[in-house]
Amino acid sequence: MKTPIQFRLNGEDVATFAEGGANLLDVLREGVGDLSVKGGCWQGTCGTCTVLIDGVPRVSCVTLAETIAGKSIETVAGLRNGAELHPLQNAFMEHFAAQCGYCTPGMLMAAKALLDRNANPTRDDVVDALCGNICRCTGYEPIIQAVLDAAKSDGRHRA
Ligand code: FES
Ligand code: FES
Repeated sequence: MKTPIQFRLNGEDVATFAEGGANLLDVLREGVGDLSVKGGCWQGTCGTCTVLIDGVPRVSCVTLAETIAGKSIETVAGLRNGAELHPLQNAFMEHFAAQCGYCTPGMLMAAKALLDRNANPTRDDVVDALCGNICRCTGYEPIIQAVLDAAKSDGRHRA
């Protein structure tokens, strides 16, 4: 049986139906068509499906869709402002912090959650914020440097 769910997605009100037990990842991709959210392990261990729920990073593959009714969801699709990329997206490009791209959506959202609550993170803060996100390609250092650089780009960071 399907249940109606309403929530905010990147600032817009959306509504869809979800099967009982459906996960948020599938509802975002198949229910409301946000293909910026990517699945990897579907077991809550890789972090690539990370979205922000009321500003808090969560792995959407193991989040019950029915629990997000009335909440605010942020995904990579909402990061840029028109044609202007988010400072994190610019920094990821400048530091070659995305290679295959498997981890990138989750990394960006976990990093955004960090910068939204701490505009001047230390390296340890960044490592701690990204510790649930696995990257097979970069060795992590370009990603860490990209997040630190985005934080330093005073005036570009958007809350
Ligand atoms: S797909 Fe959700 S944690 Fe890997
Ligand atoms: S860029 Fe390939 S897994 Fe991170």
